[in-house]
Amino acid sequence: FDTVDLIRTKRDKGALSTEQIDWLIDAYTRGYVGDEQMAAMTMAIFLNGMKREEIRDLTLAMIASGERMNFDSLSKVTTDKHSTGGVGDKITLPLAPLVASFGVAVPQLSGRGLGHTGGTLDKLEAIPGWRADLSNDEFFAQLEEVGSVICAAGAGLAPADKKLYALRDITSTVEAIPLIASSIMSKKIAEGTASLVLDVKFGSGAFLKDPARSRELAQTMVALGKDAGVATVALLTNMNVPLGLAIGNANEVRESVEVLAGGGPADVVELTIALAREMLALAGQPDADVEAALKDGRAMDTWNAMIRAQGGDPDAALPVAKETHVVTAPRSGVLVQQEALPFGVAAWRLGAGRARKQDPVQHAAGIDLHAKPGDTVVEGQPLFTLSADEPERFARALEALEGSWRIGDEGDAIDDGGPLIAD
Ligand code: URA
Repeated sequence: FDTVDLIRTKRDKGALSTEQIDWLIDAYTRGYVGDEQMAAMTMAIFLNGMKREEIRDLTLAMIASGERMNFDSLSKVTTDKHSTGGVGDKITLPLAPLVASFGVAVPQLSGRGLGHTGGTLDKLEAIPGWRADLSNDEFFAQLEEVGSVICAAGAGLAPADKKLYALRDITSTVEAIPLIASSIMSKKIAEGTASLVLDVKFGSGAFLKDPARSRELAQTMVALGKDAGVATVALLTNMNVPLGLAIGNANEVRESVEVLAGGGPADVVELTIALAREMLALAGQPDADVEAALKDGRAMDTWNAMIRAQGGDPDAALPVAKETHVVTAPRSGVLVQQEALPFGVAAWRLGAGRARKQDPVQHAAGIDLHAKPGDTVVEGQPLFTLSADEPERFARALEALEGSWRIGDEGDAIDDGGPLIAD
């Protein structure tokens, strides 16, 4: 094929054939098609979209660019979840061991954060000794013995996506539904899970802010999963407000452990339970008593085993930041607004996230919220605490937070975007 012809087809709103897509992705992965041509193609896709068949073909071509894992040798059924990412989204941490405590295998291949959304591996690396990289043998042994594994995805899964994602990142073509859906699903299908629950976010702190677009993304991904034989369901969830009270790394681990101990913030518990129910239903246990496993310590036992199996000490003290800065309520009233994105950006500026892929994160940096929208507050009470190792970071974090939270009066509308889980 002639790459210029393919770009022209997409530029002029035509559709690419299966053979054309297979060829393009293979040629791009091998370096025969260059970044400049692929950048034009991704922009054409961004502007003109793709038909369902093209999205399926793109996903299959990206899977074929690398290896596929296979869990047939396991004695357990597999299930996994993926979140499109948000502020304070630590749900994978309590969720994976909770689901695994029912005898199901949860192979969570996770990533590191870039920008304002945190990465699951960055959070877990706050635990002394814990390591994200496992050999294939360690990975399978842990799935069999413990049930849940949260580790780094190997370089062999969907290498075409790695290349394409890096290109999209620098050409402003990330937020295209066909490209997001094929990117996420190629990795999840190649990972080999039998079933998958998607947590697709909408609102301020989400990738796609408009709920209608998030719904379209969810429907596209569910169709891709089903086409590939992976039982897939999606929940559409609200990311207008940070999830829980902790935004960062070590503090998010602390909050996850509270949930595993039967406590924790109501929204984190609600979402963890809802996703666990969906995963267990897909794994053949629709009647599993998920709440009981949080209350009676079974989920915590699996967490402890999971952390130990990866070299971590679940009882070790987590890092604490050198400096804190407390913001207090300027007047009494009701907290009516707490917008996710600025809080995510502020935590990132405090050092919880990274600006470039190779940067380290500061595990103790972040924000602890002391009130959530709808809470009554009194003048002078702490609203949130910023933590950082370098005090000079506070000013830019506070700048990001300007106008992002507001105290109103009893009876004012709460600006939180509605229920946590959409219909
Ligand atoms: N996450 C991914 O893995 N890919 C995307 O394109 C967007 C989010």
